Amino acid sequence: MACARGLAVVAAAWLAGAAGAHAATLTIACGSNAADAQFCARYAQDWGRKNGHEVRIYSAPASATDNLALLRQQFAAKSDKLDVLTIDVVWPGVLKDHLVDLKPYSQGAESQHFPAIVANNTIGGKLLGMPWYTDAGLLFYRKDLLEKYGLALPKTWHEMAEAARRIQDGERAAGARDFHGYVFQGRAYEGLTCNALEWVASYGGGTIVDASGKVTIHNAQAARALDEAASWIGTIAPRGVLNYGEEEARGVWQNGQAAFMRNWPYAWAMSQAEDSVIRGKVGVAPLPAGDGEGARPAATLGGWQLAVSKYSRHVEAAAALVMYLTSAEIQKQRAIGGAYNPTIPALYRDPELLAANPFMGDLLDVFENAVARPATPTGLKYPAVSRAFWDATHDVLSGRVDGAAAVRRLEGRLLQTRRAKW
Ligand code: GLC
Repeated sequence: MACARGLAVVAAAWLAGAAGAHAATLTIACGSNAADAQFCARYAQDWGRKNGHEVRIYSAPASATDNLALLRQQFAAKSDKLDVLTIDVVWPGVLKDHLVDLKPYSQGAESQHFPAIVANNTIGGKLLGMPWYTDAGLLFYRKDLLEKYGLALPKTWHEMAEAARRIQDGERAAGARDFHGYVFQGRAYEGLTCNALEWVASYGGGTIVDASGKVTIHNAQAARALDEAASWIGTIAPRGVLNYGEEEARGVWQNGQAAFMRNWPYAWAMSQAEDSVIRGKVGVAPLPAGDGEGARPAATLGGWQLAVSKYSRHVEAAAALVMYLTSAEIQKQRAIGGAYNPTIPALYRDPELLAANPFMGDLLDVFENAVARPATPTGLKYPAVSRAFWDATHDVLSGRVDGAAAVRRLEGRLLQTRRAKW
């Protein structure tokens, strides 16, 4: 008996030792909103259990801007606290010096993903992030309310504002005093850059800086787009929208207090959750087009990648976790459970995935044609470009300046930021 117990102890020690030779405690910085963090934690910890590693979760700030600032602090200190990072589609050029080349670990798995995303994550031949999910701005609308007021799905921003006004007036008259026509992301941060780029591009006003690096924002259509958006504040959108991020907009929407919302796909899964008061009442459409020459609907391209910090002490294990989380199997689960758009084209033909998220199939062209922020041409200076753009936009929305003056000044500020080259 004593002997058997002794053997068991030896066996346990040997097993622990075997795992211990490679066992690591890894920390992954998961996405910002509650659902993302929950899914990220669930699958990362599953992987840890299966592979004898401990995975700790660090919940990144909700705002992409605050999230980036924190990462940059960690990198400046060469901190080994974070091993796996969730990085925004506009960050590879900004963070390139701090990320591990994943090519030696990927065994070519990146070839299953959208080539444009892989290209975006590849700098100087190094694969700095594995695609995790992709994003594009969408118009969420209340099907039941369009029907109640006999309105068609709006195709232009003018039509959207008109429909929003009609529904808001009607709902308020019926007693819903806090009802709003339209909610979006109007706080001065990266999310506003995404919204405003959609307005500007949808008016044919370009993409702030073009692919060759030329500053293009000083044009009449861009000015019109910003003026149009300013006209929504305090009319169809609450003034508070000037301080909304994704989750604040979704909060109002999810309470059943808005007719239209601009948001990313994740909002679908939450709107349709079993306890959601708007379950079954939600439609998803392309964002409206502007007016005038070159007008068309435009969605900003978003999305997140998983990367490994150069300062990690467990690069191999961290890279293995990244490969697991970005695999088709996990992307499918996250898409079904959380409406995170996969980065693997083959999954867009998966019947289960499409049943959970009909818009992923119906609006495939929106995702394929999404407009990129000018992160590639502006490289390390992209955060400054984006900040200048969201500041200028926020000034117009707050009524401090009109669109024409804002884009003129913004051009000056961007030329100063660029100086000789980006
Ligand atoms: C979403 C997008 C990301 C964008 C951010 C802005 O998370 O995926 O690309 O920068 O929103 O708030």
